[in-house]
Amino acid sequence: LFAQEAKPPIMGWSSWNNFRVHIDEKMIREQADAMVASGLYDAGYRYVNIDDGYFGGRDSIGNLFVDTQKFPSGMKTLVDYIHSKKLKAGIYSDAGRNTCGSIYDNDKKGIGVGMYGYLDADSKTFFDDWGCDFLKVDWCGGEQMNLDEKTEYLKILKTVKAKNEAIVFNVCRWKFPGQWAIDKANSWRISYDIDDKFSSILKIIDLNVDLYKYSSPGHYNDMDMLQVGRGMSYEEDKSHFSMWCMLNSPLLAGNDLRSMSKETVGILINKEVIALNQDKGFYQARRIFKEGNIEVWEKLLGEKGKDGKAIAILNRGEEANNFVLKSDLVNLEKSVKIRDLWSGKKIGAIGKKVSFTIPKHGIVVLRTE
Ligand code: GLA
Repeated sequence: LFAQEAKPPIMGWSSWNNFRVHIDEKMIREQADAMVASGLYDAGYRYVNIDDGYFGGRDSIGNLFVDTQKFPSGMKTLVDYIHSKKLKAGIYSDAGRNTCGSIYDNDKKGIGVGMYGYLDADSKTFFDDWGCDFLKVDWCGGEQMNLDEKTEYLKILKTVKAKNEAIVFNVCRWKFPGQWAIDKANSWRISYDIDDKFSSILKIIDLNVDLYKYSSPGHYNDMDMLQVGRGMSYEEDKSHFSMWCMLNSPLLAGNDLRSMSKETVGILINKEVIALNQDKGFYQARRIFKEGNIEVWEKLLGEKGKDGKAIAILNRGEEANNFVLKSDLVNLEKSVKIRDLWSGKKIGAIGKKVSFTIPKHGIVVLRTE
C-alpha cells in the first residue's frame, strides 16, 4: 500500500478484557453510547468489537446463530445500532471448529462455532447479513485440530477480503504468526493474552523489540487490547498506553467505558500521544538505549521523519529514577525544541542534555516541536 492510502492502527473498544464471555446486547449498546459520550469518539475511537461469547450454535443447515438470551434482538440490529452512532462493528471467530471460549467454557464446550468448514457461510453471516467491519480470527480451535495455520488463515483472509477489501482483519495467534501474515492481515497478535499487571505490559513490549521489521503502513503488530483503567496505577497505565502508541499497536480499550475515572479518560484521549500512534510516517518505535531499568525508544514522525521524532523514556524499575537525556543519544541538534506530551510542558531547546525524574513504572514522552 502507498503510505497515503494506508490506514493507521484501528482505535476502539473490545469486550474481552473486562467481560470475557459474559456479554450481551444491552451492555454492548451502552459501550457504544459511552464511547461517544465520554469523548473517546472525538479522540478517534470507532470500533466496537464483540469478542468471544456471543455464539448460540449452528442450525440444521449449518448457519451460525447468536445466543438469544444474550442477544434477543439479533446481531444485525446491534450492528445497525453501532453504525447509527457513526461507529464500526467488529466480530470474532476462530480458524478451527471451536473458539477459545467455547473450548474452555463448559456450557458451550465444542459447539462448533468456529469457521472451519463454514468459511463461506460465516463470511456471509458476518458481512452480508450482519454488516460487520472487522474480524478477529483466533486459533484455539485450529490448534486443537492440528491445522496448518498459514493455509487456514490465508484461505480465510482471501475469502474475507474478496467480500470487501476494507474489512479489517486481525490474526490472533499467541505469538508472531509468521511472515505470511504481514502483507495480508491488518494486524496480528504477537503475544499471549495481556493481563492487568505491569509485568505483562513489559513482557509484551519486550516481544515487540525486533518485530518492527514486519510492520508497514496498514499492517501492524498487535500488542493486545488495552488494560488502561483496569487496575494498574496511573503511571503504569500511562506507560502502557504510551508504548502501545509508540509501537503502532491497534488501540482497543478493554475497560468498561460506562464507568471510567477522569484519569482513565485522560489517558485514553490524550490527543498528542494518540497522534504518535496514528502518524502517517507509520514508523514503529525502536529501542535505542537500555541500561538498568531505563529504556529509551525513538519514533520517527512523518514520512522519513520529516515531522521530527518522539522519544519515550521508560522506567521499568521499582523506584523513581533520574535520567539525563543527551541530545547526542537521540541525534538532535542542541537548538531543537522539545515538549512533554503528558505534562503538556514545553521544555525548550534540548541543549546538550536534559534531565528527568521518572517515577516507578513511569514514562516520559517527548516530541520535537
Ligand atoms: C483468546 C484471545 C483473546 C480472546 C479469547 C476469547 O484467548 O487471545 O484475545 O479473544 O481468546 O476466548
